[in-house]
Amino acid sequence: MKNGFSIKKISGRRVWDSRGRPTVETEVLLNNGGFGRSIAPAGASTGSGEAVDLRDNNQACGGYGVNNAVANVNGEISETLLGLNAFDQKHIDQCLINLDGTENRGRIGGNAMIATSMAVAHAAADGDKKPLWNYLRDKETHLSKKIVLPLPEIQIFGGGAHAEGHLDLQDFMVMPYGASTFSEAMEWTAEIYLAAGSIMDAQGKRFGVADEGGYWPVFKSNEEAIETLVKSIELAGFSTEKQVGISLDIAATQLFSNEGYFLKSEKRLLNNDQWFDLMLNWLKAYPIVAIEDPFVEDDFTRHAKLLAVINTGVESGKNNSIELVGDDLLVTNIKNIAVAKEVNACNTLLCKPNQAGTLTEARLAFEGAKENGWNTIVSARSGETEDVTIVHLSLGWGIEQLKVGSFSRSERMAKWNEMIRLEDRLGSDAVYAGGKPLGRNETS
Ligand code: PGA
Ligand code: ZN
Repeated sequence: MKNGFSIKKISGRRVWDSRGRPTVETEVLLNNGGFGRSIAPAGASTGSGEAVDLRDNNQACGGYGVNNAVANVNGEISETLLGLNAFDQKHIDQCLINLDGTENRGRIGGNAMIATSMAVAHAAADGDKKPLWNYLRDKETHLSKKIVLPLPEIQIFGGGAHAEGHLDLQDFMVMPYGASTFSEAMEWTAEIYLAAGSIMDAQGKRFGVADEGGYWPVFKSNEEAIETLVKSIELAGFSTEKQVGISLDIAATQLFSNEGYFLKSEKRLLNNDQWFDLMLNWLKAYPIVAIEDPFVEDDFTRHAKLLAVINTGVESGKNNSIELVGDDLLVTNIKNIAVAKEVNACNTLLCKPNQAGTLTEARLAFEGAKENGWNTIVSARSGETEDVTIVHLSLGWGIEQLKVGSFSRSERMAKWNEMIRLEDRLGSDAVYAGGKPLGRNETS
């Protein structure tokens, strides 16, 4: 064991997330004084195969209580991990997996597990006197030497499960791929966010913000929202062909029932084939560079069909420049990644550590995606906190895209600001992942 890295103390407590719901915070202290803390995030539009949070089965806090999960951190988890080597993340995480003993992590709780798993990494990094990203990078020596500052995906309009269905699609996002630095990408985003606000004000459509901080407007249709996004980018002075692309998280499972896909805001019910055509038409009509979960989570076949069309570039007219992103489709799970690879269902992984349950499993999913030749995005959840671990994962593991929600609310800005700080410190040692996420060479 690396000297001094044995775990001396683990404690859990209940803190609160950006929706005002309770969540789990874990603190880890090592014998060498290394200290780490992390907080579990929480999803709203969760995939059915993801690690589940342990929520107290009672009336308190709308049923979202985490007292049992916190008790597990202070009890079973602490007893199991005390004295173990925090440097050996794989072993720590395997102990957590064994302790839970279930497929879905429901016994000790995915929330207790991820908070603890990440806190251990923070403590080991601190004990090693390194920022987390650098500690992670050192441990993963097979990564290329280049430090990449990720391409951000930022929500401008929010909908779906995050905005009580005002808009059907969940995320209407921008990707400032033409910026030359991460800071510049943030500045462009600020201009677009401002421009979108001014368009809505002029039309009397502004209506608060959704869970991830994007505007929550009253639009007649989802197309109107996409078109307003295009106008916002242009009003801010950017080209949608060369500088800023659109990314949509359809979160289609939320819209699907046996009857088909239902767009509530438009009172439109579409069968599978009509829905497929709608997705394809949007890809043709708008400057979309990424589309996430366009079909219900178990419909690998239609994902594959859409990817085949994108890949040929014939119908989409885009020449293989669109990311087809698997979130609920993959749930950061290596088994789903293998199935998706087998049938060619997507070309990009959305990596959410709490979907996996532990850091080691999230890492496994990331590596699996890379082996498939896919792009990767590390993502926050709709329920977030000041925790910035994913920013460090992005830099440390080399995940080339970062999705944390909008350009407002401090649980989101904490992540963007942390990346700006890292960019500042790294100077010329790091490069911004500019260029379209796929087909980078097309960008001028
Ligand atoms: P969630 O949403 O955290 O509610 O799952 C985020 C996403 O779907 O990307
Ligand atoms: Zn999603």
